[in-house]
Amino acid sequence: MKRPVNIPSAEGKLAVLIPGMGAVATTMIVGVLLARRGKGHPIGSLTQMGTVRLGRRTDERVVKISELVPLADLSQIEFGGWDIFPDDAYESAKHAGVLRDEHLDLVKEELRAIKPMRGVFYPEFVKRLNGTYTKAAASKAEMVELLRQDIREFIAKRGCSRAVAVWCGSTEVFTVPSEVHATVSAFEAGLKASDPRITNSQIYAWALLKERVPFVNGSPNVAVDFAAAQELARELRVPIAGKDFKTGQTLMKTIVAPGFKSRMLGLRGWYSTNILGNRDGEVLDDPDNFKAKEVSKLGVLESILETERYKILYGDLVHKVRIDYYPPRGDDKEGWDNIDLFGWLGYPMQMKINFLCKDSILAAPLVLDLALFSDLAQRAGFRGTQEWLSFYFKSPMTAPGLYPEHDLFIQLMKLKNTLRWMSGEEVLTHLGHEYYD
Ligand SMILES: NC(=O)c1ccc[n+]([C@@H]2O[C@H](COP(=O)([O-])OP(=O)(O)OC[C@H]3O[C@@H](n4cnc5c(N)ncnc54)[C@H](O)[C@@H]3O)[C@@H](O)[C@H]2O)c1
Repeated sequence: MKRPVNIPSAEGKLAVLIPGMGAVATTMIVGVLLARRGKGHPIGSLTQMGTVRLGRRTDERVVKISELVPLADLSQIEFGGWDIFPDDAYESAKHAGVLRDEHLDLVKEELRAIKPMRGVFYPEFVKRLNGTYTKAAASKAEMVELLRQDIREFIAKRGCSRAVAVWCGSTEVFTVPSEVHATVSAFEAGLKASDPRITNSQIYAWALLKERVPFVNGSPNVAVDFAAAQELARELRVPIAGKDFKTGQTLMKTIVAPGFKSRMLGLRGWYSTNILGNRDGEVLDDPDNFKAKEVSKLGVLESILETERYKILYGDLVHKVRIDYYPPRGDDKEGWDNIDLFGWLGYPMQMKINFLCKDSILAAPLVLDLALFSDLAQRAGFRGTQEWLSFYFKSPMTAPGLYPEHDLFIQLMKLKNTLRWMSGEEVLTHLGHEYYD
């Protein structure tokens, strides 16, 4: 990959298109609308609050990320998207129950004006939802065409110069890519034949890629991590990234586990359980949908700890993850972790983590950052899988054959170094020998 030169500035309006305008999407939208008016801080967002050090420590050059690279400004964003229920963003945010009226009321009219377009919904992929606001078409290929029409019309009507998409729709049942996902031509034939192995999120992703709209996957669905989508993204020069926003318990795991590993402390067991009462929790209550989430959550520890390489420390690790749908808590997720670790000579210790978090409050800034960074990536000429955005995901997508990097701090270093590299600054190694010469 070549270092980009003269990345075009972020001129014009940016359409942020969101399939799935539920809790996460509306929490993000409200936050952006409030931040625009100076009524709230975009806390948790690296693009809005983060800085990067440039050059030597003695140079004292620390700049905001938005000063280093040409990101779209919040005022340039136009929100749009699809859902399988007709609720506008205000009704959907009320239903989600994440934000209080004191916040929603300040931007009520703007939220009312954000209405979803009809969704593509083959219900076998999300059995717990009974979508009523859906498109009808004779085949999955026609569904792709209807979505493409939506995208073009939205961009034209709102006078946008470009668009990005972040999937915030429900988690689908666990699926694995098959021969229909192997090549662009096999997938297009599959769309025409309405192949039952082609999922809703894949139909959206295909339509967006065809329109050269960068696609980010916030769920554990197999939306773009299959060979045909990767081929299409490279061919059409579109960035893709995924998958499954790293929030809550998994975020904590990728903060704590690298600490144990750095100190060569052993682990015998890590038992994680959660209660969650929002619509996402309801969908995940179906075992087939939970399976998709479980696979995404389980890979993290084994990969950080390199269980095969460090057999004495992690060879016998038992890792379990549970999620229980518990309506009284709504979006206020509570996670418990019991960690059985051991130190010098194998002496056992325990650690308990009880995280009382808010799922969508943690996810919202990620959606914003991913929208802005994927737009930047496209202007910089990046295409295909954007591994530098692993920082945001539970199951980062990588080039075929490459293992993902899960350690949050390595991911952050990679992200910041990518920003330095793309803006012609020196990449930091943290070697620091020059201070002692
Ligand atoms: N909140 C977090 O911390 C977090 C973390 C990681 C991943 N996620 C994922 O983000 C996604 C959104 O989470 P949420 O809490 O907002 O869920 P939600 O249930 O509130 O919102 C999902 C929305 O998607 C809609 N939908 C479902 N199928 C659709 C389709 N085919 N087309 C268009 N819309 C469709 C639903 O009607 C709903 O409005 C889920 O997949 C979830 O697993 C969330």
